[in-house]
Amino acid sequence: VGRALDRHVALVGFMGAGKTTLGAEVARRLGRPFHDVDREIEDAHGPIWELFATDGEAAFRAIESRFVEDAFGRREPSVIAVGGGVVETRGLLDELDGMIVFLDVDVDTAWERVRGSRRPLAQDEGEFRQRFERRHPLYEQVADATADDVDGIVLAAGGVEVGEGALERLGELVPDGALEVVADPTVLDLHAVPLEAPVHSLPVGEDAKSSGVVERLWSELRLDRGGTLVAVGGGCTTDVAGFAAATFLRGVAWVAVPTTLVGQVDAAIGGKTAINLPEGKNLVGAFHWPVRTVIDPRVLQTLPERERRAGMAEVVKTGLLVGEPVWKLPDAELVRRCAAYKTAVCLRDPHERGERAVLNLGHTFAHALEAAGGYERVSHGDAVALGLRAALRLSGLETTAVEEMLRPEPVRVDREAAWAALTRDKKTRRGRPRLVLLEGPGRPVTGVELPEDQIRAALDELIAD
Ligand SMILES: NC(=O)c1ccc[n+]([C@@H]2O[C@H](COP(=O)([O-])OP(=O)(O)OC[C@H]3O[C@@H](n4cnc5c(N)ncnc54)[C@H](O)[C@@H]3O)[C@@H](O)[C@H]2O)c1
Repeated sequence: VGRALDRHVALVGFMGAGKTTLGAEVARRLGRPFHDVDREIEDAHGPIWELFATDGEAAFRAIESRFVEDAFGRREPSVIAVGGGVVETRGLLDELDGMIVFLDVDVDTAWERVRGSRRPLAQDEGEFRQRFERRHPLYEQVADATADDVDGIVLAAGGVEVGEGALERLGELVPDGALEVVADPTVLDLHAVPLEAPVHSLPVGEDAKSSGVVERLWSELRLDRGGTLVAVGGGCTTDVAGFAAATFLRGVAWVAVPTTLVGQVDAAIGGKTAINLPEGKNLVGAFHWPVRTVIDPRVLQTLPERERRAGMAEVVKTGLLVGEPVWKLPDAELVRRCAAYKTAVCLRDPHERGERAVLNLGHTFAHALEAAGGYERVSHGDAVALGLRAALRLSGLETTAVEEMLRPEPVRVDREAAWAALTRDKKTRRGRPRLVLLEGPGRPVTGVELPEDQIRAALDELIAD
């Protein structure tokens, strides 16, 4: 079990796997420096084929080891592409601290990409294929995870596993050692949790997110510091179980197994955990990143339509942020795309100091409507749908996707109460809400301050008389 929260992400894999191209893109998404070890060697020593020709492979490997060690030795967590042959230097990667992702490719694609280049080990096709066969198990041995595209690398870096049937493989995906399960009883009835571990059942929905429930969990848990809490359920389950894990014995590991669309694309990713107080939602919590998040889109088949709608609001939000109609994808792909997006944003800004604010697109208005409705009259999904409409209008953009996918209907809440809630939002400055808007699809801007009457008019449009 591994993730790259404060560590390097290193890509290993055969020639032609795309380490340089995908590595650069992963670095951009994670907001980290990118070090391409082969490039750095060539900048210092000239072309690798020349090094091979004049000094031989052994001399090259010695130089390479030094550059790999230097790359891993840098303080700032980075994305590192290491040369395909690094695994030939036994033990090198084992001693370095980083999350190693094996970028897998099939041999035919790899050969097509590199044939005709000057790469010394890609001159003869027969040898190339033999070397591929020999190295494949070596990559698997050193790697913490395997991926074959940018989303896959980002997910691996966040410790997020997405795949149909992942729930059945849960036993292989949790850490070794003692386990205890926290689950929502509705989910337990519908889906088997294949772990031999004590199960703590929670109240369904927001009632689970209370100090009373956490206190009960604290007393029931028998884990020691090396144990792991596994949370199976929607966002309410993962929020409260994650908070219990963050605080029990000053913090034990936890695994999130989200079973709602909201959980799979949002709540179970990024390490925010919380419970509610009578004074407000999510007022007590902690940042405590799960050691792993296991997402099985198949469990969504049992999800009621109302819950699905709530999740679709976050899916549409994500689509607007990435500038792609992700809402049109089949479930498994849609969940993977959205989960990868949220993972990247949260890895960039794990403690919500800045960039993570983009995730609030539409949410400033949504929170105001929910608060004005006393958190009962207006569901979160409906509120987000309306909030997205307002954000798009204020951005001067089409609202078609929101209208078609979410069909938001103005809600009946007190206008003054909604306005008061909006100006009280935790993201305000000097009583002025700071909004997330879009310069265009896929181009969010944060901290936008607009004239009061404009914001007020946008809010008023969301409220029915
Ligand atoms: N930590 C975060 O970053 C974050 C982000 C977004 C939302 N949240 C929190 O998440 C909570 C909302 O989560 P939610 O929408 O998942 O609600 P939820 O956990 O209450 O689940 C909704 C309902 O769906 C049922 N359910 C769950 N999985 C099911 C399945 N596979 N089939 C059938 N029914 C199933 C549950 O029993 C429940 O009745 C809120 O409290 C919110 O604050 C947290």
